[in-house]
Amino acid sequence: MSLHRLTQIVMGVPNVEQTAAYYTDFGLTPGASPADGSRPAAPQTAAAGSGHVLSTADGGEQLRIVHTPRRRLVELGVGADDPDDLDRVAAALARLDVPVHRTAGSVSAVDPGTEVLVRVETAPRLRQTPPPAAPYNTPGAAVRQGERAPGILREVPVRPRKLGHVVLGSTDQEASQRFFLEGIGFKVSDTVKGLAAFMRCSTDHHNVLVQQAPVAFLHHTSWQVDDVDEIGRGATAMLEADPDRHTWGLGRHHIGSNFFWYLKDPAGTFSEYYSDLDCIVDDALWKPGVFEGAKGLYAWGPPPPPSFLAPEDLAALMTGAHTPAQ
Ligand SMILES: [Fe+2]
Repeated sequence: MSLHRLTQIVMGVPNVEQTAAYYTDFGLTPGASPADGSRPAAPQTAAAGSGHVLSTADGGEQLRIVHTPRRRLVELGVGADDPDDLDRVAAALARLDVPVHRTAGSVSAVDPGTEVLVRVETAPRLRQTPPPAAPYNTPGAAVRQGERAPGILREVPVRPRKLGHVVLGSTDQEASQRFFLEGIGFKVSDTVKGLAAFMRCSTDHHNVLVQQAPVAFLHHTSWQVDDVDEIGRGATAMLEADPDRHTWGLGRHHIGSNFFWYLKDPAGTFSEYYSDLDCIVDDALWKPGVFEGAKGLYAWGPPPPPSFLAPEDLAALMTGAHTPAQ
């Protein structure tokens, strides 16, 4: 696969400071000042060069938060192996009549339905070191004997390893999906009939999902942690600081198989801790499924709150009257 990962997102919010503080609590590390020149601003959005940068443990500077009048995803970075891949993306987008901006190291284009500027750039592949083995007792196989579970002994704050995926609302879901599949080169892992496709640009089960919505918006971002204990520890710490952050969890998705816990940031966007996501290394060995309605949403856990399926600020986002709680 020539595309191999998400590199960085630029998230636009009306309340930059508050939102950056939230993602610091979430476990991302405030990065170097954007003024250090470590990463050039994307060609089509001056805003992308400002704001706060936060890092994951393995993926580096993966979140930039900038000011926009209403919350949305401004940019999505996708890593590719070499310039040939960029040529292929540029040609595919041109076939869809999408205007393309090409530089030596990147190709960018805006998907009108989601209003996101997607930038495909040459980037090194992510090499992740596995966490220490956490022996897990099962009936008839007590592999951990005479010692407590490592998950209850951890004390360091949870730190997400990488950005996993984003879920977007699009005013033209079909066109947005075509943009990502036929234009950028994502692949379909599973489909929810008539609603959306889970799309990947890496070996992760999904990196982007686009849903039909009355307004372009960012539904959630998702961040990988080591295991389900880290999800529980991370969410518990977030809720100790502010119980109103709770949205949905703990549960396990059916599509993608991952454990999840969703929280809400001060701009109204959900952020997810996840672990144990399905991994697709050999495309030929994966059979994409077609799921109906909410069936594929979760295998177990509490039912999703209505506000997860239709965020409470959608009407305000449509009218531009969105003002997040201060
Ligand atoms: Fe998710």
